[in-house]
Amino acid sequence: MNKFNVQDIRKDFPILSREVNGKPLVYLDNGATSQKPQVVIDAITGYYTNDNSNIHRGVHTLSQVATTAYEEARIKIQKWINAEHLEEIIFTKGTTDGINLISNAWGRANLEKGDEVIITEMEHHSNIVPWQMICDEKEAILKVIPISDSGELLMDEYKKLLSPKTKMVALVHISNALGTINPVKEVTRLAHEVGAKVLIDGAQQVAHAAPNVRDLDADFYVFGLHKMFGPTGVGILYGKRDLLNAIPPYQGGGDMIKTVSFEKTTYNELPHKFEAGTPNISAGIATAAAVDYIESLDWEAIHIHEKELLDYATEALKKIDGVRIIGEAPEKASVISFVVEGIHAYDIGVIVDKMGIAVRTGHHCTQPLMNRFGIQGTVRASFAFYNTKEEVDLLIAALKRAINMLVK
Ligand code: ALA
Repeated sequence: MNKFNVQDIRKDFPILSREVNGKPLVYLDNGATSQKPQVVIDAITGYYTNDNSNIHRGVHTLSQVATTAYEEARIKIQKWINAEHLEEIIFTKGTTDGINLISNAWGRANLEKGDEVIITEMEHHSNIVPWQMICDEKEAILKVIPISDSGELLMDEYKKLLSPKTKMVALVHISNALGTINPVKEVTRLAHEVGAKVLIDGAQQVAHAAPNVRDLDADFYVFGLHKMFGPTGVGILYGKRDLLNAIPPYQGGGDMIKTVSFEKTTYNELPHKFEAGTPNISAGIATAAAVDYIESLDWEAIHIHEKELLDYATEALKKIDGVRIIGEAPEKASVISFVVEGIHAYDIGVIVDKMGIAVRTGHHCTQPLMNRFGIQGTVRASFAFYNTKEEVDLLIAALKRAINMLVK
């Protein structure tokens, strides 16, 4: 039975019934953060209302209740991404934190002068800068896979970059700025042939489908919860157990140790070895609610719905004079970036906001990608399963009005 009815689903998200600037909110900035269903909001308030206490530290009842709820979230994530072992699931602050953890802890232990790290031209700054920093420190070399005009990785160029010097390939699963879905399984297979490790940035992927880390054979897979209908301030680093065991800790502090003396400290087992300090407990607990919620939906129907939104919006945008879509890969998530000839993206963003429509404008933290296309930035509409064709119509109408106002 098709359990997907967009109007019913919208009722799960209280914010979708608010107004902005006197107009019903049309939220098309899901690439930046998704909205939260009531069950996730309730999980956060429920923790603070009933169970607030620290985890992994207390024998008292509240601490036990909170610890159990937090650890249940870890189990749900393990199952959701099909990780083999529970201790392969590390809680982080988010995608950026996960990448920094690996670039620092793995990078310090594994990179040497002359080694190579490969990224792609479509990376978010968070998957560029941490690698630049560690490459500078270790005198390693950063190489970049170029992309085509339609926004696809040039796989032949990638193959030319691979060599026994390649130690890490770090790439985005779905581009936040183009929507391109990268062939990450094939990229990983090729990297493994030369003995390199692979880190996949799944920040955008998790809003559209569960990543199957075992099928992808990813060495490391990182994402945040806030783009998958969960809270901000919490993310997941998945890593293969043997690799994580071999990496030294990233941050020191409580929970990541076994014993401490002034002479010598011994470290905790996975996953706690990488979880120093009190974490974002409420967000961790609400992670379980987000996964439960996602799993209650009909994803086959959602994929059809999101594809319809993408195709419908793409077709309508192409009919507007002066609009150019940036990123037209055949394998694409429901994200559309575009520029309008002679008009700054920011101006469009401000005007459509007056009509209640939230889109993102600018470089989307992908300045090298914008340079690749010779532009400063784009307007980006990114759709989630709760968006509707009527909202696309409102975007198109608002855009036409904005263009009329701005060209006069
Ligand atoms: N990386 C997020 C975006 O694409 C914030 O908007």
